[in-house]
Amino acid sequence: MPRFERVHTDYHGRLGLPVGVFVAVDHLRRAGRLTPDDEALWLAIDDWFVAHLPEPPQYADGNSLGVITWFKTPVPALMQRRVDVATRLLSKYGVAWSVSASDAPGEVVYEDEYQVAVVPPVRGEPSAPPAGLVLGPTTSGSKQALASEESAVARRHLAYYATELGDRATRTLHANRSRQLAGFIEQCRSAGLRSVLEVGCGGGGDGVVLQDAGLDYRGVDLTPEAIDICTDRGLSVMAASASDLPFEEDSFDALWTMSTLMHLDGDGFDRAVAEVGRVVRPGGLASVGLWGSEPPARRIDEHGRLFVQRSDVQVREAFSRIGSVDTFEVSRWYGDGGHYQFLAVRVG
Ligand SMILES: C[S@@+](CC[C@H](N)C(=O)[O-])C[C@H]1O[C@@H](n2cnc3c(N)ncnc32)[C@H](O)[C@@H]1O
Repeated sequence: MPRFERVHTDYHGRLGLPVGVFVAVDHLRRAGRLTPDDEALWLAIDDWFVAHLPEPPQYADGNSLGVITWFKTPVPALMQRRVDVATRLLSKYGVAWSVSASDAPGEVVYEDEYQVAVVPPVRGEPSAPPAGLVLGPTTSGSKQALASEESAVARRHLAYYATELGDRATRTLHANRSRQLAGFIEQCRSAGLRSVLEVGCGGGGDGVVLQDAGLDYRGVDLTPEAIDICTDRGLSVMAASASDLPFEEDSFDALWTMSTLMHLDGDGFDRAVAEVGRVVRPGGLASVGLWGSEPPARRIDEHGRLFVQRSDVQVREAFSRIGSVDTFEVSRWYGDGGHYQFLAVRVG
């Protein structure tokens, strides 16, 4: 394996070199191309690198030397996972990228545990970026202050869950959740449903039960730390939004999503429901758990999390758009009208 690698696009920036993966995703953000959830995801990834990957001192004066960085190989798993999120974003928005490998990428002017900064031996000319992309100087430090207002809710969720999911992973499942999981597994077995997608897999508590039951499990969650925790627990998961699932239609026999979709508002919720109907094959099963309320309520909790608590009628109506709601159980009523909704949808 060559000692260094660089993940880059095929368009050149002002240095006359292929633009690196992180700068390229940030070009998408600057151009306003990212969806609010993708912007929140990208900024969480970028913040993680700000915290974990030292910044070469050559960048301090605006990079007058014109250095570029190459990762040392092998790239640590936590970093590689986040590079993979960045390249998936490039692919999703139609920006071509590739990985170059080298033992001698140029004159090394800086080195740390993870990377080298080099003065490359040759440079080309700057080239036009893909249509609609905006080039611009690299911003050092967190870019959260530059983010759009539309991604504010998702950014608050990611900030909260980044630290909370570790605790969640070690919690004992609530008795209701264990019973509902057992019922779901039984329904999958009796109907011969094998593949299951969990949307909002969190700390993987439900995922390990589903996988241990022999189901072919995949999970998604918008919080990158969920991916670390679940991967460590042996689950196959990806960072993605519930309202934009990175799977072909009819990819799964069944879907499980608990305590997640009430974080989505308006259009985002409608798209998430439609995504359930798209990725689950006709005749498949979707089990959905939500915090609801009678009458409907909308609140922001002390951690900045948005809860859009829909009434039973609203939830039933929303999921009737993708199939038939076979069961609708409510439990855990609170004095303020909040309660838990658990429904099983036969996808049409
Ligand atoms: C209350 S936790 C529930 C986690 C797990 N399902 C459980 O019941 O323990 C909500 C989860 O939704 C995830 N989440 C929030 N918004 C999301 C979105 N738009 N797409 C996917 N996941 C999202 C959070 O990262 C978090 O893991």
